[in-house]
Amino acid sequence: MTDSLYDKLARELPGRLPMHMPGHKRQADLAPYLRALRADLDITEIEGFDNLHAPEGILREGMARAARLWGAARSFYLVGGSTAGILAGMRALTRPGDKVLMQRGSHLSVYHGVALCGLTPAYLYPPQVPGFDAWGSVTPDLLRTALAAHPDARLLVLTCPGYEGILSDLPRLVNLAHEAGIRVLVDAAHGAHLGLGGGFPEGAVACGADIVVHSLHKTLPSLTQTGLAHAATEAVGEALAEQLDVFQTSSPSYLLMASIDGCLRLLEQEGPPLFATWRQALEAFAERTAALRQLRLLTPAIAQEVVWGMDPGKLMLSCAGTDITGYALHDTLRTRYGIDLEAAGPNTALAMTGMGDTADTLLRLAAALREVDKGLCEAPMRHKGTLPQPEAVMTPGEALALPWQLVPMREAQGRVCAEYAICYPPGVPLAVPGERLSAEALTGMGEGPLLTTRSKHAPTHIAVLR
Ligand SMILES: Cc1ncc(COP(=O)(O)O)c(C=O)c1O
Repeated sequence: MTDSLYDKLARELPGRLPMHMPGHKRQADLAPYLRALRADLDITEIEGFDNLHAPEGILREGMARAARLWGAARSFYLVGGSTAGILAGMRALTRPGDKVLMQRGSHLSVYHGVALCGLTPAYLYPPQVPGFDAWGSVTPDLLRTALAAHPDARLLVLTCPGYEGILSDLPRLVNLAHEAGIRVLVDAAHGAHLGLGGGFPEGAVACGADIVVHSLHKTLPSLTQTGLAHAATEAVGEALAEQLDVFQTSSPSYLLMASIDGCLRLLEQEGPPLFATWRQALEAFAERTAALRQLRLLTPAIAQEVVWGMDPGKLMLSCAGTDITGYALHDTLRTRYGIDLEAAGPNTALAMTGMGDTADTLLRLAAALREVDKGLCEAPMRHKGTLPQPEAVMTPGEALALPWQLVPMREAQGRVCAEYAICYPPGVPLAVPGERLSAEALTGMGEGPLLTTRSKHAPTHIAVLR
């Protein structure tokens, strides 16, 4: 096998005089942070190190390795996270004015894609998972109904796995969409580890989606911001490459790309034992937590009617019907046990696992959960509002281009929203630009932590069209 990108950087850079960017000039001794962050290897595209936007050497080889591993026609490195891949992918598969079918619970980057590409969204509303702050799988029936109601849709964007690890029956969904003549982009930001064997479920690339986007950094050993975009055919790959040129930086970090390269080599050479260690750690965790009395782990078995499948790597805990909220469980684990969870909601808390986890890390979490569980009592179920199905007055792109003002939330009913108001978790927008604000949506905004994109520092206010 040829040198890794990291080895090539370490071997070829010392002794060369960089009369080009970056401005630290690889002088790691200039300051401790530069040494710690390996500024001596920090370059962007220079002679001999290939080019992200027109790869012909070591980057092209790495992208071919990625395509082989997941079974894509073409794969591309992402240095701007899945966000860059989603924006480029949506642009590659649509024309301005197209209609896109998407889950209401899609990540904000999908909404940004809608606005940037001038698309009209139509939403799929999967059912809520009882006792969990999460929405279930997209079913073939749900999709069939949406396809019948929106025969003019040009693109389906599916999030699979979802943030909480919930899977949908992708082969059937992709088939249905293709039969209806529409393309499919799968936001598999949380599913880069799927489809590689090791006892984890099948991934989105094998299901025939036109474009699949992976964050490597979320579940696999690669630095934050790194990911991959996969295309099912050469033609889609060409269109995707053109759009990645638009949405990715012209100065990609070689430290980030060396970590992508390293991660792909690791998967190729040591994937099976690394996946086995992770699976064993998850099994040990499952054994140790099987006897929890109050807390419940989300598995397909306990929510069969609404959950088609689960990524075993996500540990979604419900404290519904107990005297603790998900927020309090999150705080207790942080302050008493030094364990930082991924997210919390009124009824749930989410622990994310990754290839770096071992039996030690997961048994530490299991031990803390057993101790907390012992101290819990039954309590009435907390109410969790359902998702509003709002009236769209105009598209998000149209609304974002119009003048807006901040108004107190209590005065906003009936006004047209001019920002995204997102409830975390599960990151579902309660209001999207261009939607008329209903009493239901405004009540939902008071129920948990809210992220608003324009009235950031004034959560008591919301941006509406003037
Ligand atoms: C479902 C989903 N899609 C896309 C993204 C964006 O990924 P990235 O942070 O790699 O840009 C996220 C990030 O959390 C996500 O949860």
